[in-house]
Amino acid sequence: MHASGREVILGVGGGIAAYKSCDLLRRLLDKGFSVTVVPTPSSLNFVGKATWEALSGRNVTTEVFESVNEVRHISLAKQADYIVIAPATADLLARLAFGRADDLLTNVFLASDSPKLIVPAMHPQMWSNEATVANVETLRARGITVLDPDVGALTSGDVGQGRFPETARIIAEFERVISKGLDYSGKRVLVTAGGTREPIDPVRYIGNSSSGKQGFAIARNALSRGAEVTLISANTSLPDIDGVRTIRVQTAAEMHAEVFREFPQCDLLVMTAAVADAKPLQVLDTKIKKSDLKSIELTENEDILKSVAEIKNHQIIVAFAAETSHDVAQAQEKMISKGADILYLNDISHGDIFNSETTYGEIFIKGGSSHKVAKTTKDTLGEELLNQALVQLG
Ligand code: CTP
Repeated sequence: MHASGREVILGVGGGIAAYKSCDLLRRLLDKGFSVTVVPTPSSLNFVGKATWEALSGRNVTTEVFESVNEVRHISLAKQADYIVIAPATADLLARLAFGRADDLLTNVFLASDSPKLIVPAMHPQMWSNEATVANVETLRARGITVLDPDVGALTSGDVGQGRFPETARIIAEFERVISKGLDYSGKRVLVTAGGTREPIDPVRYIGNSSSGKQGFAIARNALSRGAEVTLISANTSLPDIDGVRTIRVQTAAEMHAEVFREFPQCDLLVMTAAVADAKPLQVLDTKIKKSDLKSIELTENEDILKSVAEIKNHQIIVAFAAETSHDVAQAQEKMISKGADILYLNDISHGDIFNSETTYGEIFIKGGSSHKVAKTTKDTLGEELLNQALVQLG
C-alpha cells in the first residue's frame, strides 16, 4: 500500500508510556505516513511539545482554544485518514467512550469517522476495573479497535496486564486496521479535474469556472482507499496530492492526449473536468488589437469521454454534467449517448457550485436507477461516487 500522503493523527494520553510513543511516531514516519501529534494536556508532563514538534516536524497543540481561527479540531479531523491513540489512559478511555470533547484530541476523535486504533496502557488494577472494562466494550462495539495491553512488569513494580505493547505489535495492528478500509486496493483510478483553456492569442483564452476541487476530492478519496491514482489537472490552483501522480495540462487537446495515454491501464475513469466544447479555429501568435476583436471563429473539440468510451474494455466511466436545469431525461440521455456508466448531474443554476466546498445534484446509474444528493461536501460526493463505481467494477 502507499503510505505516502496518508495522514495519521497520533493522540498521546497522559501516562508514562507516552515516551514510548516517540518510537511509534518514528516508525510511522519511516513508513511514509505524515503524522500530526495531538497530546492531551496532561501527557505534556511526560513528553513535552518540543519533542513532538521536533520529531514530527509539525506544529503541536493540545487545546481547542489554540489556533481558533483554523478551527483546528475540524481541520485535523478532516485531514486524518487514521487516528492512533497511544498510550490511552483509563481516564482517556472513559472520556472517549462517553463522547466527551474537553481537549483537542477528544474533539478530533469525535469529529472524525476515520479508522481508529487505541492502545491502552495503565496499571493492571485500573485495566481490569469494571468501569474500564465497560468503556473498552463500548468503544469496541462502535467498531474501534482497542488493543489489549501486554502482560509484564510495570513502572510501579507490579506485574500484570497493562504494559504498553512493543512498537512492532502496534504497527502490525495498525496495518491490519487500515487494510480493512482499502476497498480500492489494486485498482487504478484516473481522474480529470479543472477546466481546459483554449488560447485565442498569447494573452486571451476561452475558459470556464471549474476550480478542480471535485476532481481533487475524488483523487484523495481513491488514494485513501488504496487505489493507484493518476490525476490529469487542467488549470487548477490546487497543490499536488502526495501519493497521486499528477499531470498538468491546459487545453482540451492536451487532456485528450493524456486521457488516451492513461485510459488503457486504468479500471475507473472519472471525468470531472469541464472540457471546452470548442476552440478558436486559428490561434494567433500576436495579440489581437481590440479594433480587430469582433468575432472568433470556433471549431469543435473532440468529446474526450465519448471517444474514450468507444475503446473501453473492462473500465467503468463516470461523467459529470453541469447544467442550469435539473432535467432527468436529458441527464440519462447524456449518460447513454456518451457511453458512461454513471453520471452526476450538478445543478449550477444558483451559482453556488463552482469553487465551492459543497455540491448537490443527482447520481444516475446505467440501467435506470438514480438518487438525489442533498447539499454535501465534494469529499462526501466523491466517496459516494467511488462506492457506486466499485459496485459496477464488481
Ligand atoms: N466532456 C469531455 N469532452 C468534451 C466535453 C465534455 O470529455 N469535449 C465530458 C466532461 O468531462 C463531462 C461530460 O463529458 O464528464 C459531460 O460534459 P458536458 O459539458 O455536460 O457535456 P456536453 O457533451 O458538452 O454537453 P452539452 O451540450 O450539454 O454542453
